[in-house]
Amino acid sequence: MASGGNPANKHILHSSIFNKTLRGWQGLNCEITQKNLMYPIFIVDDENAVQPIQSMPGISRFGINRLKDHLSPLVEKGLQSVLLFGVINNVPKDETGSNASTEKNPVLKAVPKLKTWFPSLTVACDVCLCAYTSHGHCGILDKDGYIKNDDSIKRLAEVALAYAKAGADIVAPSDMMDGRIGAIKQSLRDNGLVNRVSVLSYTAKFASNLYGPFRDASKSAPAFGDRKCYQLPSESTGLALRAAARDVEEGADMLMVKPVLIYMDIVKELKNKYPEYPMFVYQVSGEFAMIHHAAKAEAVDLRLVLTEVLSSLRRSGADVIITYFTPQILDWIHGGSKL
Ligand code: PBG
Ligand code: ZN
Repeated sequence: MASGGNPANKHILHSSIFNKTLRGWQGLNCEITQKNLMYPIFIVDDENAVQPIQSMPGISRFGINRLKDHLSPLVEKGLQSVLLFGVINNVPKDETGSNASTEKNPVLKAVPKLKTWFPSLTVACDVCLCAYTSHGHCGILDKDGYIKNDDSIKRLAEVALAYAKAGADIVAPSDMMDGRIGAIKQSLRDNGLVNRVSVLSYTAKFASNLYGPFRDASKSAPAFGDRKCYQLPSESTGLALRAAARDVEEGADMLMVKPVLIYMDIVKELKNKYPEYPMFVYQVSGEFAMIHHAAKAEAVDLRLVLTEVLSSLRRSGADVIITYFTPQILDWIHGGSKL
């Protein structure tokens, strides 16, 4: 035998995985802890309401008076961050989404309360117009239905500033208008908030067919047309890279890919290109529904499959996973089991 030994030895894989500890060492960067989770919450303008969302079993819209009870047990289990969405039923909608930045926006009322009840909870606010505009689009439209870019980003910066002034730690623009990160950063700077509010950009947000349940939940479906003129075409890696380059250039603190399970190639590509930036991924409402219903039909085991999905997302480069399953996952982590 040559001095190097039998060359076949290095192809023995079983010797690396014959017990649980050894297997764990093969994927330490894929672990899921409380730090890796952000929990999306819908806040409705009816203060005492808890409204179950039909298309998202187990998820409800909460009025401000119901939030504390809902979140307390989760914070006790180590929940670190939430992402807030406003839903208005009674408050009027108009062409520019005026009420996104008035005291009528239930999110603006909720932020200071959340920060008082849970001082260590990091509060992120989704910044968009679609839930507040009469037409349900994410920007301001001209008479032909095209986006008016400058007007839109000015308006989005006003909304982001309102959340920042209310005490949000993070503003997260999901509108996909060009130049909005720069406009928001500038307005935070002009108002002395640039170093204490973080900007999480929905960078690679694709025009996906997986947002249906969310639009039902947040009453934000477009009244006409679709979002293909501002969200990215699902086929395009090039535009995802350009969007990330744009947002990084404009000063985004953190990047996001959304949806995630069918866009993991983009996650990996962006994480490799921008390793300096925390990478967020959004497991969107349609992904939640797919996993939920497959498990409910007993085609798959929820816990086993979700654990596999979550570690795969981490493997592909995700640092933080925004997921409606957060309460279940916290229970599993809390139960002491390794996810
Ligand atoms: C709206 C927004 C959407 C989601 C987050 N913010 C839907 C859309 O673009 O129509 C989707 C979230 C989900 O499906 O869970 N700006
Ligand atoms: Zn929107």
